[in-house]
Amino acid sequence: MAKRLVIAGLVGYFSLFMVLTLALGFRWNKQRKAPDQPIAFSHEIHVGRLNLDCLFCHDTADKSFFAGVPPVSRCMECHISVKLESAEVQKIHKYMEDQEPIPWNRVHRIRIRDQVYFSHERHVKKDVACAECHGDLGAMAKVRAVRSLKMGFCVSCHQEKEAPTDCLICHK
Ligand code: HEC
Ligand code: HEC
Ligand code: HEC
Ligand code: HEC
Ligand code: HEC
Repeated sequence: MAKRLVIAGLVGYFSLFMVLTLALGFRWNKQRKAPDQPIAFSHEIHVGRLNLDCLFCHDTADKSFFAGVPPVSRCMECHISVKLESAEVQKIHKYMEDQEPIPWNRVHRIRIRDQVYFSHERHVKKDVACAECHGDLGAMAKVRAVRSLKMGFCVSCHQEKEAPTDCLICHK
């Protein structure tokens, strides 16, 4: 009897452990997932192959809090004539005609954005490379987050580069 109880207890314990691991693993996976985008835009083509500069499209990264995404007109600078037969490129033309912004889905977001101070300008001007926080975009057909953007990530780099680590530098 006692032996059966012990076995039942052990089985229960390990089942719970498995369920938790799966649940947490799933959450982690979901966070790292690359969301689908309204147009199959690829950094692998535009950065990896065409060698375009990040700031050509994310042109506020060196002068504001946000890096921003390019307006439809930036895409049209080339796609007015490039690859017109592509259904994906025709979508760009449709947004242009309708004068609507492309509704890109966000990949990176600091969880408690309204309580944390984060500026692209500050980092870009100090020559912190985009890749240190975003990975190698030139190899990504679809953007996904490669770093957690959690506090430990911010603080460990600040320690390494002798940037300030007082709480109130980052927290409002
Ligand atoms: C030709 C324009 C273009 C160039 C060049 C470009 N990007 Fe992008 N980028 C985009 C567009 C459009 C999106 C939104 C769609 C997407 O996520 O794929 C985007 C999305 C991103 C995102 C995800 C934004 C989010 O929602 O969190 C990051 C990070 C990023 N780009 C970094 C870079 C870096 C770093 C470079 C240079 C190595 C670069 N990009 C070059 C157009 C460009
Ligand atoms: C500097 C010129 C340039 C800019 C700016 C540019 N592209 Fe491109 N794009 C290209 C070239 C060149 C190709 C590759 C065409 C090929 O494969 O022959 C391409 C390929 C593509 C493709 C793949 C088409 C297919 O079906 O193979 C998509 C989708 C695309 N671009 C979307 C965009 C979007 C969205 C933007 C704006 C955020 C943008 N591009 C900005 C030059 C540009
Ligand atoms: C020190 C880390 C760091 C560096 C360096 C960095 N980013 Fe970011 N990036 C972030 C974080 C954190 C977010 C999410 C911000 C938020 O939640 O508002 C982000 C968001 C973005 C976004 C989404 C749109 C936006 O403006 O929030 C784009 C696009 C982007 N980064 C592009 C770039 C490019 C291009 C560079 C280099 C010129 C760059 N980043 C350098 C950390 C960084
Ligand atoms: C890869 C390295 C790196 C990462 C990751 C990083 N930072 Fe920084 N950060 C720096 C450097 C370098 C400076 C410039 C310090 C200076 O101005 O001398 C800086 C400066 C800052 C400043 C301005 C400090 C001041 O002097 O006013 C703030 C705020 C900040 N970072 C917040 C963040 C937050 C929030 C994150 C995480 C989302 C983050 N940083 C991630 C390297 C990094
Ligand atoms: C370099 C930037 C940076 C510094 C310095 C920093 N933090 Fe943070 N902190 C963050 C970021 C970014 C987050 C959000 C992380 C996330 O999304 O989980 C955060 C989250 C937190 C949270 C969790 C808040 C919540 O609602 O979940 C606490 C508590 C916190 N920080 C306390 C501190 C204290 C105390 C200090 C000083 C010893 C400090 N932080 C220094 C960037 C920083």
